[in-house]
Amino acid sequence: MNHFSRIGFILAAAGSAVGLGNIWKFPYITGEYGGGAFVLVYLLAIVFIGLSVFLAEAVIGQNAQADIATAFIKTSKSKNKNWKFSGFMIIAGLIILSFYSVVLGWILNYIITSFGDLPTTTEAAGQAFGDLISKNIAGQIVFHTVIAGTVIFIVLKGIKDGIEKINLILMPLLGLILIGLLIYALTLDSFSDALKYMFTPDFSKINGDALLAALGQAFFTLSLGVGTILTYSASLPKKVNFVKSSVMVAIVDTAIAIIAGLIIFSFLFEAGAKSTGGPGLVFISLPVIFSGWGVLGHIISVAFFIALVFAGITSAVSMIEPSLKFFTDRFSMSRAKATVICGAFFYVFGIIALLSMTGEFKPVLSAFGKNAFDWMDFITSSIMMPLAAIVTCVFLGYFVDKELLRRIFTAHVSETVFNIWYNLIKFLVPIAIIILFLNKLGII
Ligand code: PHE
Repeated sequence: MNHFSRIGFILAAAGSAVGLGNIWKFPYITGEYGGGAFVLVYLLAIVFIGLSVFLAEAVIGQNAQADIATAFIKTSKSKNKNWKFSGFMIIAGLIILSFYSVVLGWILNYIITSFGDLPTTTEAAGQAFGDLISKNIAGQIVFHTVIAGTVIFIVLKGIKDGIEKINLILMPLLGLILIGLLIYALTLDSFSDALKYMFTPDFSKINGDALLAALGQAFFTLSLGVGTILTYSASLPKKVNFVKSSVMVAIVDTAIAIIAGLIIFSFLFEAGAKSTGGPGLVFISLPVIFSGWGVLGHIISVAFFIALVFAGITSAVSMIEPSLKFFTDRFSMSRAKATVICGAFFYVFGIIALLSMTGEFKPVLSAFGKNAFDWMDFITSSIMMPLAAIVTCVFLGYFVDKELLRRIFTAHVSETVFNIWYNLIKFLVPIAIIILFLNKLGII
């Protein structure tokens, strides 16, 4: 059987969770929302909402040991075949993978440029980043192809020899690089400023926007709402304590986001740079700082961007796995054929995403004020992921036998823990997500 080992599951699920969301997105949103206050709200969102939805996906996968659609049907009280429509979740993973692969391609470009001259001013760095995404079509296609090829190569080998193995190699390496960078950050005077910035909450900065951004980030960073956790849990042997494993994954994911934040803010403050650089924080602000540190700056730059690629690759393989399992298990397709079909899909969509930001193609590949890249991001993170999370919680809360869930949970944890989780997913989580959902759509 193609199953994870316990440690293999924890590494793979942590590999999925730890990605660009932790090292690129978390620090810049924390910067945009003013530091400590946002971090606090984010931690609450992870503990009460993210972890609950994570356990919700995990329990369905664990119980059914099947692809998403079959798992919903099998777990439901009625065994109604219409639950197969839950299979829509696989599309979100493929769409995210399309633009995620493009961003990973930019990072490959930054690894290479880290060996040469680094930009010394923010203007030059901004120009270099702008040129890459708006002018360099050939380069971006090459990088996207390398990333897509790597992802396809890994998943073709299956759960055990592909996904588990790559996580077994890349996750410890990622950990080592981050520890190295953290130790360096610790030697800087500004480390204490970074600590203060991230852990002194200024409550006046907590508003509705910050709450919603924190919730959205909690979903994205824990890989929720695309069926990844459900699918990975389906390959976790039933005797394993999935609750404990899930909590460990959430802890590792959160720890890495915090460590990435401390590293990046120490670097920024050391150079007197602002924390509000937005999405360009790691592509524009950091290279300028590294350029002032001589040879060491080049080494740190290479290490930093390699860490980003490692983190991103282990997430990328987890985005395609739900579709592969869906096609192989439900339609008895060979893994190779499923990989070719899904691979072709995200490869082509990735090319559309990257072309949509270039001067030549932007006009044709934009609609209603957003280019295709932004549309893919918006449709997945603002519509499909929250929708999938609501469906999952409502499903478990109202369409699944409570006794079944109680039995699965209490094999590993106490009755109290089960009851807390059950009430969270039945009431609090769906309501919180609906608020997020309506707000993102601009309705409230
Ligand atoms: N969790 C990943 C990150 O933080 C992104 C991701 C989303 C992975 C959805 C899988 C599924 O970068």
